[in-house]
Formats: sequence, structure tokens, C-alpha cells
Amino acid sequence: MEKNFEKYKNIIDKNLEKYVNIKSDKLKDSVIYSLTSEGKRIRGILLLLVFESITNSSDYKNILPFAVSLEMIHTYSLIHDDLPSMDNDEYRRGKSSNHIVFGEDIAILAGDALLNLAYENMVNHIYKYPAKQNIKAMRIISKAAGLMVSGQALDITHNTLNVDGKILFDIQKYKTAYLIHSALYTGAILATKNKKILSDFYTAGFYIGLSFQIKDDYNDYLEYKKSSKKTSDIINDKATYVSIFGENKAKEDIQILKSKILIIFNKYNFKNNNLSDFVEWLF
Ligand code: IPE
Ligand code: IPE
Ligand code: MG
Ligand code: MG
Ligand code: MG
Repeated sequence: MEKNFEKYKNIIDKNLEKYVNIKSDKLKDSVIYSLTSEGKRIRGILLLLVFESITNSSDYKNILPFAVSLEMIHTYSLIHDDLPSMDNDEYRRGKSSNHIVFGEDIAILAGDALLNLAYENMVNHIYKYPAKQNIKAMRIISKAAGLMVSGQALDITHNTLNVDGKILFDIQKYKTAYLIHSALYTGAILATKNKKILSDFYTAGFYIGLSFQIKDDYNDYLEYKKSSKKTSDIINDKATYVSIFGENKAKEDIQILKSKILIIFNKYNFKNNNLSDFVEWLF
């Protein structure tokens, strides 16, 4: 990660363990193992960056609980995504997957715990600060977390043989784009009531979310090309952007979405270019 963004990542990393209230040592170890492993924290960082760009303020007091919850929801989704009954991946974030280290039973519970802790954390915050914006933020994040489950179900019930472009779009929208979108839209909701800004971040959020999953599919494919070691996408005959549309279209569409995102951000005279630079770094 570029130096510029390390600062934001560190803020999130420092706060991740603060809200972990678990009474079983093994479950706690399992949750901490995945939560604190080297994720990029892009959802949390995007939330901070959007808030900071719109408000010019680095006062993250009211933002951090949502950023941490987003990363908890995301980590839960990865633990479950790797399970043998789902993608069956043995490595995650440069280490053995949660179920490889702690067993499937604890890995399932670790995902459950993280999802519940994410909600508990947001509700506790809203209980203390019952502002309408905070309730809206939780509403947006909850909707995305719910839809992610549908996306994962669509992902599991489709492969290269029974998918078309429209279903693939739905899979990617629900399993990945909504949660990333919720980071951007929540950041905007917590920062402003300006309808134009909200509508721009609503749109840019989906573009970033969609191109992020295309890029993930593309990176998974490049890894396979480089090592010739079959990835779980290949083994499971997954419907990915590359398996359906091919390598070149994936690469092109990432760039098309990227330029649409930058056009939106460049309309604004933010104090710094952190948000656009982050998009450049992502894609
Ligand atoms: C990977 O997400 C899974 C997808 C939703 C595509 P990230 O690439 O954000 O994973 P980490 O958090 O950095 O490990
Ligand atoms: C992840 O999609 C979507 C989730 C909601 C976790 P993938 O299955 O492509 O993610 P990776 O490649 O395992 O990180
Ligand atoms: Mg998957
Ligand atoms: Mg996977
Ligand atoms: Mg993938």
C-alpha cells in the first residue's frame, strides 16, 4: 500500500480489536486471527477518505465504528467464502485460511461472531449518538451485508455453464459491489446532506464496487497464468468476469469504470487528491 494511505489503514487496524467481546478463548483466537491478518482495509479506508474529502475534517470519532464494522462484515464473509463447502480455499491474506487452523466448526462460528459484533458495535454507537445520519449509515451497511449473502448464493448456484452476463452482473453486484458501495455512500451520508454530492457518491460507489470484483477475478486469473496452479475459481468452474467475457474485456472494463469514477471525483475541488489517488492505486 502506498505511504499516503498507510495512515488510514493504521487508524482502522488500531481499532479492529477494540470491539471483540468473546467468551471462548478458541473462538476469540480464531476471530482475531482473521480480523487482524493483513487485509487491505479498502472498505474502511474508502469510508474515511470520502468523509475526509467532503468535510475537510479528520475527526473520525463518528466514522470509525462504521469503518470497523465494515471490516468485520468483510472478514466474516471471507472466512465463510473459504470454507470447503463454498470456495474451498486453503489460503487467505497470505496465511492458512481460518478453517485450516481452527477447524470448520470454529470458522463458521468466527464468521457468525464477526457479523454479530459488527451490528452490536454499530448499535452501541447509535445508542450513544442517535443522529439520523448514523441510523441511515447503519441502514445502508445492513442492506449491503444482507444482499451479500444473496450474492454468495447466486455465486454458488452458478458456474460457467448456467450463467449469462445479466446473472454475472447480479452476482458481482450483490456479493461484492454493494458492500463497497455502502462504504462510499455511508461516508457521504455521514459528511453531508447535499443531494448532488450524495447522488455522485452513490453512483461512484457502485462503479468502484463493480470494478473491484472484476479486478479480483482478473488478478485471480493472472495468478493462475503465472503459476499454472489452478485457483479455486478454475477448479470450481466459477462464473467470473474473465471466464465469461475473457481477459481483455475484463482489463478494458476495469479501465472504463475507473475513468467514470475519476470523472465524478474530479468534479469536486477536494483539498487533496487522496480519493482519486486511491482509485488510481486500486485499479
Ligand atoms: C477480497 O476482498 C474479496 C472480494 C470481495 C473480492 P479484498 O481484496 O478487499 O480482501 P482483503 O481484505 O484485502 O484481504
Ligand atoms: C468474494 O468473491 C465475495 C465475498 C463476498 C467474500 P471471491 O470468492 O472471488 O473472493 P476471493 O477471490 O476468494 O477473495
Ligand atoms: Mg467466492
Ligand atoms: Mg473465494
Ligand atoms: Mg476471487
